[in-house]
Amino acid sequence: MSLPPAFLDMLRLRRPLATVVGQGVRLVRRGREYVGLCPFHKEKTPSFTVNEDKGFYYCFGCGAHGDVIDFVMHRDGVSFKEAVERLSREAGIEVPRASPQEREKAKRQATLLEVMEAAAAFYERQLRLPAGQAGRTYLHGRGLAEEVIARFRLGFAPGANACKAALKREGVAEDMMRAAGLLVQPDGDRPSYDTFRERVMFPITNVRGQVIAFGGRVLGTAQPKYLNSPDTALFQKGTVLYGLAQARDSAIAKGTLVVTEGYMDVITLAGAGFSHVVAPLGTALTEEQMTQAWRLAPEPVLCFDGDGAGQRAAARAAERVLPLLKPGVSVRFALLPEGKDPDDLVRTEGAFALATLLEAALPLSEALWRSLWAGRKPATPEQWAALEQDIKTLTERIADSSIRSNYRSLLYERLRTERAQRQHRGRAERRSQRQTHNAPLAFPYGTPLMPRITELTERVFTAFLLAHPPVLIHHAEQAAEALAGNKDLAGVIESAVLVLTERPELNGAEVVSALGGVMAGLERYLASEFQRQRADPEGDWQHMLSALHDQALAHEIESLQTVLATHPSPEAWRRLLCLQHERRHLHEEAG
Ligand code: UTP
Ligand code: MN
Repeated sequence: MSLPPAFLDMLRLRRPLATVVGQGVRLVRRGREYVGLCPFHKEKTPSFTVNEDKGFYYCFGCGAHGDVIDFVMHRDGVSFKEAVERLSREAGIEVPRASPQEREKAKRQATLLEVMEAAAAFYERQLRLPAGQAGRTYLHGRGLAEEVIARFRLGFAPGANACKAALKREGVAEDMMRAAGLLVQPDGDRPSYDTFRERVMFPITNVRGQVIAFGGRVLGTAQPKYLNSPDTALFQKGTVLYGLAQARDSAIAKGTLVVTEGYMDVITLAGAGFSHVVAPLGTALTEEQMTQAWRLAPEPVLCFDGDGAGQRAAARAAERVLPLLKPGVSVRFALLPEGKDPDDLVRTEGAFALATLLEAALPLSEALWRSLWAGRKPATPEQWAALEQDIKTLTERIADSSIRSNYRSLLYERLRTERAQRQHRGRAERRSQRQTHNAPLAFPYGTPLMPRITELTERVFTAFLLAHPPVLIHHAEQAAEALAGNKDLAGVIESAVLVLTERPELNGAEVVSALGGVMAGLERYLASEFQRQRADPEGDWQHMLSALHDQALAHEIESLQTVLATHPSPEAWRRLLCLQHERRHLHEEAG
């Protein structure tokens, strides 16, 4: 249903954003904005801002943003259409009339929903009757408590056209049962029969909890293991996430959502206290499903089997997500022990094991790096170049240009580090095994805003690092990142890291002499740094980083303000707010 833009504008006018947000969030005026605790993630200090002039909200904590319609979609987990309907009701205005075809379609869907509800209630009842004994035994055997069975409205479909007969008694016409996917019509004039026979039934609902389809599992080992409703006017397989209605509230409250592969994962996990879990229906996640997941959480965690097939599936999912990324919105990957799904894991190892795995879920960037690097042992310039090419090709899929450039610099940096380590390893081969550190690459502030520091600062920085080998070794990647703009000094630091990895016992002066001539120009700074007694080099390092970060932020804020003066845009405005917030945060942290 497409609505006239003028109507939507009127709706936005009649339902001011601050009013709608204010229904559930205490907002405090600050300058031209309101701020409050974000309803979309857990937080103690307010980072949710509402700009009434622009009709726009933005959360600095989780990146949620949009207008009043987006807000209702996100808050209530509903579609655009439903959000418009809710707002119109509140405003006391009528949504422009649908066409006769649309009205007809809506009526038919309402009837189909009733049919599906009747079927769900029937299957539920059967599970408690003698006819459902086998189903009950099966579900109990899989460790499910009555409470979860009821929450997910699990049921049992007996054979012998029991469903068809029961619905007929309730006055449901056979063609409606067919339209609902509950009956199969064989060729010729043989009578139709129940789609689901002798299966444990999993009702699939829309986000409002209305039943729109079923999955049915065999009790034994027959095929197919799961039978799903065919696509109907109510149900298109690729657009639905199983368990969304049950997961919605807790996912919003927790600010995170877990995506597993199957029905039983969702249900067992719910029983073990993980109520923010959903699953696609036996296919890879579609764009539509991702969009729904992102309505509930900025970084859903996708679970995959840790075996080869699972890793390949994870890599494919990562590639598919790339074109959909937006600032603040991503996915993470949890790899499970080989051959186990989350259901198995919780039942054999317990909830804690799963919680730990979810906690350790890899960011998309890390998962991508791993899939690029897996199985490769580049040794020649051509092989390294091939990897660079792959990074380029892969990141080309990212539609958002700022995310794309962030991914590129991150992955190239990763490649550089890997190459440095590899060259070093070649040399160190003969030596006995030393500790290799495999620290995942992390930007110091969670954002890639690492400061480009000036020449002078870069030298001081380098001198500092050389004078304090433990800091250098510990933060080698951050240091390389900070010096990315100065090849010479980055080279000095890289060489120093190599020397230190091979001979960690060396002090700063010894590293410098091992480096020989490359040090020209640094002596003066070095001399003063070497003479200095620092009580807390680690603390000083953090302090220096903050100062540099602050400086970089100030620069960027200034140039954004210039841009905004002449070319205002929502993106620039949002970015500015974001930077200002980050800077405030930095100052607060620095005390
Ligand atoms: P799995 O084969 O991994 O099954 O399929 P599972 O979820 O672990 O099921 P249990 O534990 O053996 O009961 C994952 C999902 O793929 C879909 C279902 O949605 C299932 O939950 N599937 C699987 C089908 O649609 N049809 C099938 O025949 C098999
Ligand atoms: Mn399973």
